[in-house]
Amino acid sequence: MKHLPAKYKAVVLPEYHPNVIRAMLGLKIKEKNIPILKENEVLVKIEAAPINPSDIAFMQGGYNIKKTTPCVPGFEGTGVVVKSGGSRSARALEGKKVSCFTQKDSDGTWAEYFVTHPEDCISLSNDMPIEQAACFAINPLTAYGLFETARLNKSTAIIQNASGSQVGNYIRALAEMAGTEVINIVRKKETANMLKEEGAKHVLISSEDDFQEKLKDLSHLLKAKTAFDAVAGQMTGILYNAMPAGSKVLVYGGLSGQPIGNIAVLDAIFQDKHLRGFNLNAWRKAKTPETIHEITGELQQYFIEQKLVTHIQGSFRFDEIVDGLKKYLGGMSKGKILLTP
Ligand SMILES: NC(=O)c1ccc[n+]([C@@H]2O[C@H](COP(=O)([O-])OP(=O)(O)OC[C@H]3O[C@@H](n4cnc5c(N)ncnc54)[C@H](OP(=O)(O)O)[C@@H]3O)[C@@H](O)[C@H]2O)c1
Repeated sequence: MKHLPAKYKAVVLPEYHPNVIRAMLGLKIKEKNIPILKENEVLVKIEAAPINPSDIAFMQGGYNIKKTTPCVPGFEGTGVVVKSGGSRSARALEGKKVSCFTQKDSDGTWAEYFVTHPEDCISLSNDMPIEQAACFAINPLTAYGLFETARLNKSTAIIQNASGSQVGNYIRALAEMAGTEVINIVRKKETANMLKEEGAKHVLISSEDDFQEKLKDLSHLLKAKTAFDAVAGQMTGILYNAMPAGSKVLVYGGLSGQPIGNIAVLDAIFQDKHLRGFNLNAWRKAKTPETIHEITGELQQYFIEQKLVTHIQGSFRFDEIVDGLKKYLGGMSKGKILLTP
C-alpha cells in the first residue's frame, strides 16, 4: 500500500439550513486526520463524487438521513481502496477500484479520503470510466429496481416525471432494451427539446395548459400502468388520476418538497389503483448479495458498452464546491457535477 498522508481535505457542513443558499454558503474546506480503521472498514482515496438531489435535501436537513454535524456530505463516489481494517472482506478490496456509498452517521464522500464498509463498495472493472463509476452506486440501481417493478407488472408502457434526471435517463435506456414505451414528463421546454434530440418519443411538459388531458389520453392509449414519480406534491395525484384502472404509482423522490396530494377518491376506491414508495436500500436488502453482485455486473457492462451513460455537465475541485453546487442547481437536467480532489 502507498504511503498515506497524515491529513486530508474535506468539504464540511457545519450545520443544516432549510435555505439551500445558506446551507451551501456555510460549507467549509477543512483538514481532517486520516482515521484509524476498524476491522471491517476500508479507506478509499476518492477520485470523484457527484452532487445528487439527496445531497441538497441532506444539507437542508430535509433528508431521511441525518448525520451529527459538523460532517462531510456526499453519499457516493469512486476511488481506490488504499487501506483495509484487516477483516477478510476488507482485505479483499485492497488496491481495488470501487464505487462506494454510505448511509451511516459518518463522514461522506466529498473528501480526499472516505471510510466505508466492504459491503458498501462495488468492485469495478478497469474498463469502467471514472466519471461513470462516480455515479454508479445509487442511481443506476435505483433505475434497475424501479424498472423491475414495471417488468413484474408486465407494463408495456411506463410514465416517469423529472425525466431529464439521470435516473430518468437510465430508465429510458432500460425501457428501450426491453421494448417498453416511455411517457416522459419534464417541467421545462428546453429539457423536452433535449430529450427529443436524444430520441425520446413521448415527452410532455407539465407546465403546459393541456398537460393533464394529454397525459390521460396517452397513458390510456399506451396502457401505461406503471408510473415512477420523483416529484410528489400535486404531481402524484395528477399521475394517479390520469392512469388507467389497475395502475401503480411508485414515489421515489420528493423534488417538489411538497406532501403527496390531489388523489381522486373514486379512483382510489373503484379503480384498483395503487400508490407506494420505492427506496433503494430496502430494495437492495430484499436481494441476496449474490443477486446484487450479478445486477451490478450487468449494469457495469451496460456502462462499458455505453448502453447506459451518465451525462456529466462539469467537474469542480472540492474547494470549488460552492461554484459546483450553483452550476448544478442552475440546470440539473444538463447532467451531474462531479467533485474531485
Ligand atoms: N428512492 C430512492 O431510493 C432514490 C435513489 C436515488 C435517487 N432518487 C431520486 O431520484 C430523483 C432523480 O435523481 P437524479 O440524481 O437522477 O437527479 P438529477 O440527474 O440530478 O436531476 C434532477 C432532475 O430533477 C428535476 N427537478 C428538480 N426539481 C424538480 C421539481 N420541483 N419538479 C420537477 N422536476 C424537478 C430536474 O429538472 P430541471 O433541470 O428542470 O431542474 C432534473 O431533471 C431524485 O428525486 C432523487 O432523490 C431516489
